[in-house]
Order: sequence, then structure tokens, then C-alpha cells
Amino acid sequence: MPIATVPTTPFPDQRPGTSGLRKKVTVFQQAHYLENFVQAIFDVLPDRQGKTLILGGDGRYYNREAIQIILRMAAANGWGRVLVGRDGLLSTPAVSALIRRNLAHGGIILSASHNPGGPDHDFGIKYNVSNGGPAPESVTEAIWARSKRIDRYYIVTGVPEVDLGILGSSHCGEMVVEVIDPVQNYAELMESLFDFDALSRLLRGPFRMRFDALHAITGPYAHEILERRLGAPAGTVVHGEPLPDFGGAHPDPNLVYAKELADALLTGEELDFGAASDGDGDRNMILGRGIFVTPSDSLAVLAAGATCIPAYRQGLSGVARSMPTSQAVDAVAQRLGIPHYETPTGWKFFGNLLDAGAITFCGEESFGTGSNHVREKDGLWAVLAWLSILAARGQGVAEILTQHWRDHGRHYYTRHDYEDLPAEVGADLMAAVTHQLPVLSGQKLAGREVRLADDFAYTDPVDGSHSLHQGIRILFDDGSRLIFRLSGTGTSGATLRIYHETPVADVQRQLQNPQRVLQDLIRLGRELCRLEALSGRTQPTVIT
Ligand code: G6P
Ligand code: ZN
Repeated sequence: MPIATVPTTPFPDQRPGTSGLRKKVTVFQQAHYLENFVQAIFDVLPDRQGKTLILGGDGRYYNREAIQIILRMAAANGWGRVLVGRDGLLSTPAVSALIRRNLAHGGIILSASHNPGGPDHDFGIKYNVSNGGPAPESVTEAIWARSKRIDRYYIVTGVPEVDLGILGSSHCGEMVVEVIDPVQNYAELMESLFDFDALSRLLRGPFRMRFDALHAITGPYAHEILERRLGAPAGTVVHGEPLPDFGGAHPDPNLVYAKELADALLTGEELDFGAASDGDGDRNMILGRGIFVTPSDSLAVLAAGATCIPAYRQGLSGVARSMPTSQAVDAVAQRLGIPHYETPTGWKFFGNLLDAGAITFCGEESFGTGSNHVREKDGLWAVLAWLSILAARGQGVAEILTQHWRDHGRHYYTRHDYEDLPAEVGADLMAAVTHQLPVLSGQKLAGREVRLADDFAYTDPVDGSHSLHQGIRILFDDGSRLIFRLSGTGTSGATLRIYHETPVADVQRQLQNPQRVLQDLIRLGRELCRLEALSGRTQPTVIT
């Protein structure tokens, strides 16, 4: 088997972000760019020889080309076997499940998640480790360090392309390549967690739902699980065919980018439930008739109702949320008498807690919810979990949510994003708040007293690792919070995110407009970072 050693020189910009390396397709198409990064991954995995790797992506533009290159590099780097999804497709949670099921050494996922796809848009690559979760920071930093010194990569030459359209085994050099059904293992896993008979009764009855796959990876999964296995009427899944450019849209399940679905539920079409997922299938958005469920509330409702799902009948060992996620789930944990944890943004921080059995459910405000069944957030899992609660309670989404608020208090919450800022402006806005941290504590602001103001740092309770600078927190004496962070997932410029939260126990004040309830905190947030003076902005580009 001819293995070429190709000389190369480092690229300075291959530091993985919150979730892998994301760049414009044109950046990845530069000679050696993808190869350098893949070799950097392989170089930090010295024990990969003869092991199994899972490989797939969300089908976005450049997916197929990248898969052929990675297969030939994997063969040249001594991997024993690669399981690759048919047509190069695998959702992020499906990769996580496959790593665990096959005791694989790791997996490579090709996706830029919810970022748009196409020749002028984004591509991405991330590595997941043997527990099925995103590589921890120690690994991603090692990959970055390696990428800065790389001077060669290995690739098999003179072998035909692997036919990704046909299921079955073949060889690439000496390495075994198995093209697998992308959906089957994942669908079986879902059947093992949920009561498919109960869900099927719900979906075959008068209940009407719509799942919008946004022309991204969850289409095939949702068709199979919701329509074929559970018997929901054909047409329940819309935009179910993955397209390389996601139909020109933005595969991000929120009120802005999944507007068609949101309009259908919020303006009174005859639908009881709506859900959407993102490019790679790990995010979810939940809607009921006339109501949007914030991801923070969604996590809290699922935690409170978990025991109606067979896999969680014994109860939850604990729950975790990322720091900017609202404290709604904390209130549930307190009532259940189980531990709750606060981690930095990024699913990888849940991995150790899940592995240690410290938590069963976790979630993030960024439309991520999941459990210990995999080590990624899981969009369709969240949909099935919600359907389970709806089926068990025989209530609608709005009833369940308002009852939840009555029982646990409502955590009014909104996130304001200021996108496409020049990178230096983003840094200046954060610095403006950081400079005030030493004097904020004890001050009276927006009608509340500041209890604590800090730059959030995290010590992992399992392995003791420290993560610094994970966002600015301002905590008030009434439980309100104001949080500032720069996005870690963009491919150019900066996005400032300001998160606002205030808990309201009084049932009489639980049905108000969050933007109105939070207006003082919103104004304060803009003042503290000197938004208008430093950026010229007065309004966010996205509100969720
Ligand atoms: C990815 C990660 C999430 C994280 C999110 C944060 O989606 O998988 O775990 O919450 O990025 O994105 P941001 O743009 O706020 O850094
Ligand atoms: Zn995603």
C-alpha cells in the first residue's frame, strides 16, 4: 500500500473553538488545510493503531470530498477500521452513540453545526473521544499545538474512492471501511430509552405535530423514527432531505431561523407541537400551540418529568446546566433533592459529570438538551422526551409549562446577540464590563443589589481541571443575573451575547412578556458594556 509522506507548513489559525475547527469552505479548500488539521488530530492520538474510528458529517458542502481525504489519511495513519455513514451522513448524536456502541477509539464529525453551508459558507471538523463526547480542552489544545508545528502528513495514494452509496465492507489500503446505515443504531437506541408504544398511540391519534429538519441531517432520522417507527402521518417531517446548502437557509432552530415553523405554531395553525433541529442534529427547539419553550425551561420541564420515561424511571442522579443557562433547572433539582452543577458553555464540560454518574440530564440555553445516553446534546432525543411527557400527562405544552412555573417559579429569560462586530470591538465591549468588576459588588443597579460580579472560572469536580474566563457574571440579590460572553463558534468577527434572567415566584406575574419584564436588565447590560459608544449598536441582531 503506497503511503505518501507529504511535506507541509503550518497554518496559524487552526485552534479549535467551542466545538471544533470552523472556517469558511474556501479556507478548508486551500491546499493541505484539511490534511494538516486531520494529521494534527491523529498525531495527538498515538494509541490509534489498529483501532476503530467513526466518521460522518451533516452533509453540508465539502462533506463528501473531506470524507474521501480523511479515509485515505486514516488508512495511512494506521487506523484498523472506519465506520462511515452512508453518503457520508451521520448526525452528531448518532456519532456519539456509535462510538459508544462499537467501543471505538473516537470519531470525526464534519459539521459547522447551525452555521449556513454551501461553497461560500462554513465547514467544520471536530474530534470526539472514546466516551463519545467532544474532545476535552487538553486534547483540543494539544491538536492546536501540533497544528502549529506540523511539517508532514500521511496519505494513501493510488486507491480508488470508497463508494459511500453502498452499505458494506471494503478496504482502503489495509484499513477496513464499513459503510453503515446512518440511522439504524440511533433509532434502536431511542427505542431502548422510550416507550414507543405510548408515543405511537399519541402520534397516531388526533395529536398533530410538525418536525422541521431545516434541510439538514435530522431529516432521515426523523422520517424513520417519527413517521416509520412511531406512525406519525406522512408530512409530519418537513424539509426532511439533507441538502449541501440547507436550501440556502440557516439550519439553526430558533425563532429567527426556524420562522416558518414558529409562525405555524404561534399564529394558530392546527398544531399541538412543533420542533426543529440544527445542521448536525444536536440542537432542538420546542414549540406548543401559541407558545415557545425556552431551552432553559425545556431542560427544567424534562428534569421534572423524567420519571415518565422508561430509561429514567429510577430518577435522575443530578442535573447540570451551562453558566448562562437559566436557573430554572436548579429549582427542579432543589425540589427533587438532587445535585445540580453549573459548567462553562460547551457540551464537553458535561462529559466528566456524565461519565462519573454525577448527572443524568444536562442542557444549555443554546438549544441543547441531552442525557447520559450519549455524550452530545441530542435534538431528536429532546423531542421524544417532550412527547413522552405530553403522552403521560395528557396535557398540552402550554398547560405543562404554566403548571411548571406555578410549581417552581418562572425564570424569565432572554438572550440578546450582537452579531458581526469587528473582533476588536467585541473585545472592547467585554473589557468595558471587566474593568468594572471590582466595584460592582454591593452596588444598587436596575433596582437590585449586586451580590457578586466575577469572571466565571470553573474547576471540574471530577478531574480538577481549571477553565478561566468563561464569561462575566453579575448576580443580584433577588436571583436575577446578567451575563456577558463572546461567542466561541463564529468563523469571523465577534458576536457579543448578553443573557438576562429574573425569577418570579408570584403566580400572578408569570404570564408577562419577557422583554418587558427584563427591560431594566436589558438597559443595564447595554450601559455596562458601553454598547452604543463602542459599537454604534442600539439593538441586538437576534433575540431568543
Ligand atoms: C456549540 C456547542 C454548545 C455551546 C454552543 C455555544 O453549539 O456545542 O455546547 O453551547 O456552541 O455557542 P457560542 O456561539 O455561544 O459560543
Ligand atoms: Zn449542532
